[in-house]
Amino acid sequence: MVAIRVASTSLTLFASTSSSSSSFYYHSRSSIFTKLQFSPILDISFAITPFSSSSSSSSSSSRRVVQRMAHSIAHATLGLTQPNKIDPPKISFAAKEIDLVQWKGDILAVGVTEKDMAKDENSKFKNSILQKLDTQLGGLLSEASSEEDFTGKAGQSTVLRLPGLGSKRVGLIGLGSAASATVAYRSLGELVANAAKSAQASNVAITLASSDVIPAELKLSTASAIATGAVLGIFDDNRFKSESRKPALKSVDILGLGTGPEIEKKLKYAEDVCSGIIFGKQLVNAPANVLTPGVLAEEAARIASEYSDVFTAKILDVEQCKELKMGSYLGVAAASANPPHFIHLCYKPPSGEVKTKLALVGKGLTFDSGGYNIKTGPGCSIELMKVDMGGSAAVLGAAKALAQIKPTGVEVHFIVAACENMISGTGMRPGDVITASNGKTIEVNNTDAEGRLTLADALVYACNQGVEKIVDLATLTGACVVALGPSIAGVFTPSDELAKEVIGASEVSGEKLWRMPLEESYWESMKSGVADMVNTGGRQGGSITAALFLKQFVDEKVQWMHIDMAGPVWNDKKKIATGFGISTLVEWVLKNSS
Ligand code: BES
Ligand code: MN
Ligand code: ZN
Repeated sequence: MVAIRVASTSLTLFASTSSSSSSFYYHSRSSIFTKLQFSPILDISFAITPFSSSSSSSSSSSRRVVQRMAHSIAHATLGLTQPNKIDPPKISFAAKEIDLVQWKGDILAVGVTEKDMAKDENSKFKNSILQKLDTQLGGLLSEASSEEDFTGKAGQSTVLRLPGLGSKRVGLIGLGSAASATVAYRSLGELVANAAKSAQASNVAITLASSDVIPAELKLSTASAIATGAVLGIFDDNRFKSESRKPALKSVDILGLGTGPEIEKKLKYAEDVCSGIIFGKQLVNAPANVLTPGVLAEEAARIASEYSDVFTAKILDVEQCKELKMGSYLGVAAASANPPHFIHLCYKPPSGEVKTKLALVGKGLTFDSGGYNIKTGPGCSIELMKVDMGGSAAVLGAAKALAQIKPTGVEVHFIVAACENMISGTGMRPGDVITASNGKTIEVNNTDAEGRLTLADALVYACNQGVEKIVDLATLTGACVVALGPSIAGVFTPSDELAKEVIGASEVSGEKLWRMPLEESYWESMKSGVADMVNTGGRQGGSITAALFLKQFVDEKVQWMHIDMAGPVWNDKKKIATGFGISTLVEWVLKNSS
């Protein structure tokens, strides 16, 4: 075994002789999984000479060579895809109070409700802001909005090229009467971003026709939701397209929601969360031939090295996981040519005492073929199974955001047992009995229920970090998608207190969670004749039995929640990742900070 100490940072990476030389390629610091194999991001010095492992008999070392070739092919050249290095657009936000008529730029966008669009008997706007703009435009705004049948419904937008204002164009964006204000304001930001894309606009301003009626305490969250929508709306993940146009948008002014350090701080916070969300989306969008477990581990290590003031990273290889007796996780990884990597990042605040210790655990299957219980038939979605590391993307996206926000009073462990679920002669057979790191034995009656097997050892590891609360996120069951549909995640926890905290955080972030029962009587179906348990209990209540399985690996002293995000990880219409979970996790960690 070789310990690689990274000289320039406090990050320590571990790698074994069998995988370090082939599976750790360090990539350029700025890009996301762009392969620059000969430019290490970190200064690596070997503490121990490689190839001195005591277990290297001649037969095992020749096996190793074969395996290493398979790894490097899978890692570096499969399909010859090299993601383009495209940095997410950098937009600067400013909160201003300027007369709308005077504002100079490409698009002045006004968010309007259906009520704001009401007109008097002379077909004039009743809303004072719209009235003022309309007067300046000689009545063209009210005329055009009627002609286009713009009523202010959610999702409606119209952008007009009109003379008479400081702005080249004026846009009306419908807010409708959305259930959540956060969701409505975020979609306002998104629609403006789309308008900016089609007009190739570089400067836009966003305001609300009724910003004056928003209570002072909600102005900050309104501004931040608008900014979030704009940043995420302008971002297109074009790394795997041979051609793409760079967005022109450079600056967004948020008008009428206040000015000063408080709102600037809130906007900076929104940008930090967005950078985490974009990173998470990129991880999920990346195909499994590019984002292997090794590359996922490198991406995690890169966060730690970029933010070494608050982060340390530990990456465990197969040998180290064996020492920790992670038989359940290693069973899943056993068929794969791409070796597993167990990722552990630790966040410690830059100053002050730690009062609460938390862990975020993410399912990190970079591909799930199902194993011997291979996913077959229409609707099995095997071609979508690169998304099966969505839980780990949420965890690492939150890590990236928190690295910039730097909350105090809280220590956070980010844990991912990354691997692939493949098929080969070395793989787990249906019916095999495997042993997890807490000593419990599992009869694998279905190799496609692999996520829970990897999470079992990750949860045991998390409990060993001495944390008080654990939240795990996983694309765990199709059953949860059947129960709650594509946009709602299921949450399972024995703790009402933790349910309140996390669901509260999701209300702020606008992500949809629904608490499901942890019905203990269903454990009956998880009994095995030969082992402590089986890993699947049949079709009925499939997301509940999965959660009950995970519960076997959590200390009773620890407050624990499982989030099944198999539905919301992916946007089926747009065919891209959603970045689900990140904003809720960040909110929750901040609730626990002091
Ligand atoms: N990764 C899948 C779950 C999944 C389904 C994720 C759809 C994303 C979209 C998981 O590993 C799985 O295969 N679950 C099985 C469990 C079954 C064998 C008990 C399922 O849901 O069919
Ligand atoms: Mn599966
Ligand atoms: Zn899976």
